[in-house]
Amino acid sequence: MRKTALITGAAKRLGKAMAIHLAKQGWNIAIHFNTSELDAKRFCEELTTSYPNQQFGIFRANLSVMSEVENLFPQVIPAMGPVDLLINNASVFEPATLAKTTSDFLERQMNVNFRAPFILTRNFARAFTSGVIVNFIDTRIVTNQSNFAAYSLSKKVLWEMSKMAALEFGPNIRINGIAPGLTLPPEEKTEDYLWKLAGKIAMKRPGGVDPILKSLDYILNNDYLTGQLLFCDGGENLGQTNE
Ligand SMILES: NC(=O)c1ccc[n+]([C@@H]2O[C@H](COP(=O)([O-])OP(=O)(O)OC[C@H]3O[C@@H](n4cnc5c(N)ncnc54)[C@H](OP(=O)(O)O)[C@@H]3O)[C@@H](O)[C@H]2O)c1
Repeated sequence: MRKTALITGAAKRLGKAMAIHLAKQGWNIAIHFNTSELDAKRFCEELTTSYPNQQFGIFRANLSVMSEVENLFPQVIPAMGPVDLLINNASVFEPATLAKTTSDFLERQMNVNFRAPFILTRNFARAFTSGVIVNFIDTRIVTNQSNFAAYSLSKKVLWEMSKMAALEFGPNIRINGIAPGLTLPPEEKTEDYLWKLAGKIAMKRPGGVDPILKSLDYILNNDYLTGQLLFCDGGENLGQTNE
């Protein structure tokens, strides 16, 4: 029987790349989106045309609204059947130091980046007896740099929750994380932005999406791996080089 993946924030960018990658391997995909309805619809049509024997569906939820988060699996399961893989990919990435972080801003970052993956992880474990969860973290969790304070903190706590969940929900549900580094530039920036930042990391170049897809495959294919974080960041977590 075909397996089904639910990927949050799958209408664009990394989420979309993972959806294409898994669809090529025969997976059914539940494409979650929030504002990118047109992209999600078009993408779903493209996948359906390319892989007519597989099932694809689109599901909207604003992950900063907890009632919508709670309602995501109840939308997906009747349409797609049991879910074997949950990828908590959607996030908001907005700059602000601690001093400049308002309570609304903090709430939005924590809701989308931590509370939603927490509730979805819990709801996955309530609904299914086996499966895999991949939580998207960020290499920034190793630093205390505060230019994206709320974002970084939301990812730190998401990683702590992932380890706790791996212990509680094993052996049949495995939970791992991927911590990307310089992968895709923010939508308003170009590749140059990443190349400038790459000068001080060990690998001296941005990674693009391929290394992330390889990390995803590694997690899926290694059924003894749980509670692990794959830093897929060209060594950025090691710190900055001298020159
Ligand atoms: N890009 C990188 O270089 C990089 C580096 C480190 C870590 N990461 C992590 O890797 C993951 C993917 O990165 P990305 O750059 O591809 O992500 P992204 O483009 O910033 O965001 C992915 C999706 O998240 C969804 N999203 C945002 N707010 C939402 C909300 N309130 N409710 C529901 N969905 C919401 C959006 O969906 P809609 O468009 O439908 O609204 C968006 O398309 C993220 O978790 C990110 O933190 C990425």
